[in-house]
Amino acid sequence: MTSSRLSVHYVNSGASITSRTTGSPRLSTHANGESDTVLIAKKLSSLSLTEREEKQHALDRLEMLKTVGTGSYGHVLVVRDRETSTYYALKIFSITHVVHSRQTEHVKSEKEILSAIKHPFIVRLYWTHHSDQFLYMLFDYLPGGELFSYMRRKGTFDLKTSLFYICEIILAFEYLHSLQIIYRDLKPENILLDAEGHSKVVDFGFAKKILNKTFTTCGTPDYLSPELFKNTGHNKSTDWWSLGILLFEMLTGGTPFNPNQNESEIPGRVLAGRITWPRTIDEQTKAFIKKLLIQNPDKRLGAGRNGSREIKEQPIFASIRWDDVYARKSKPPIVPAVKHPGDTSCFDQYPEDWRSAPFASDKELDLFADF
Ligand SMILES: Nc1ncnc2c1ncn2[C@@H]1O[C@H](COP(=O)(O)OP(=O)(O)O)[C@@H](O)[C@H]1O
Ligand SMILES: [Mg+2]
Repeated sequence: MTSSRLSVHYVNSGASITSRTTGSPRLSTHANGESDTVLIAKKLSSLSLTEREEKQHALDRLEMLKTVGTGSYGHVLVVRDRETSTYYALKIFSITHVVHSRQTEHVKSEKEILSAIKHPFIVRLYWTHHSDQFLYMLFDYLPGGELFSYMRRKGTFDLKTSLFYICEIILAFEYLHSLQIIYRDLKPENILLDAEGHSKVVDFGFAKKILNKTFTTCGTPDYLSPELFKNTGHNKSTDWWSLGILLFEMLTGGTPFNPNQNESEIPGRVLAGRITWPRTIDEQTKAFIKKLLIQNPDKRLGAGRNGSREIKEQPIFASIRWDDVYARKSKPPIVPAVKHPGDTSCFDQYPEDWRSAPFASDKELDLFADF
């Protein structure tokens, strides 16, 4: 089986990853003589202590069962709560590795964004925690595995199957964009199936809350939009570009700008905008993908004032009832062969080598004091 493609993060000129600012706020003195600083410090320490104790307790209750995924920066294990017998996915990062690979802000942003959102097609985060070695994030366990595995196993999907996932992802993106969040790492490795076969977007490492444009180039080469290669700033439109790439990949088994499986060719091909269209893609679908792969992000489908509505109203979705999609009433085309909630048979095998991470320095730990 072809292995998953790793996400990359480039630090461009004009963009950098800044570390946490540690300046303390100026506080006034309280009328009873005890300064606000002292009062707040007391309140914070007692709060965070109980909170931390509770989370440590929750972590101690977890039985670490098996690694189900590794990515560029994290390691994901299926775990079982010994008290409730519920299965979860625990994402673990080595603190030292995160800091050294300059992912501190991305990991923090992953936590912040996921803590603030809830959607039927987005993975749910329960809590985060840290030790002197690792950062932990506890998620719903999605036993169906990666959409990527099904795509590689089947070679190609038919249009109906492809549109099932595309519709659920459109709703997830519509929701994120309504909160001014861009996702930036769409690819089938980051779309998981739940036990029934519905989609869940995972991996918010590159998601970002933006006001207008942002400049740091990150994502996965096959899925990067022209504005990301040009470093002219990008916005929500970049997610719609990646949706076009995903639909093309589902239908053909390969991405449009990497026909020779040679990453160094991708930027040139993306910027030239030349695609070889296989005959198997019908005209309506081709027209839809072409509108998502418009070079100019401001002219791309979804970039207009009506945003995602413009996409949902395309002829290709004429028979789609969007309320039913949201209510998870569409029938999943693939029902994962999951025998019990902790079944890991839909995932590949990975080495269980995550425990060997080094201990973090005090300086590194300080960066994650409130994680
Ligand atoms: N909630 C989950 N349930 C089951 N598997 C998961 C879950 N979250 C992630 N995974 C698996 O772990 C892999 C890596 O997780 P991801 O969040 O994408 O991390 P990375 O940023 O390292 O790519 C995913 O591609 C998937 O196979
Ligand atoms: Mg990932």
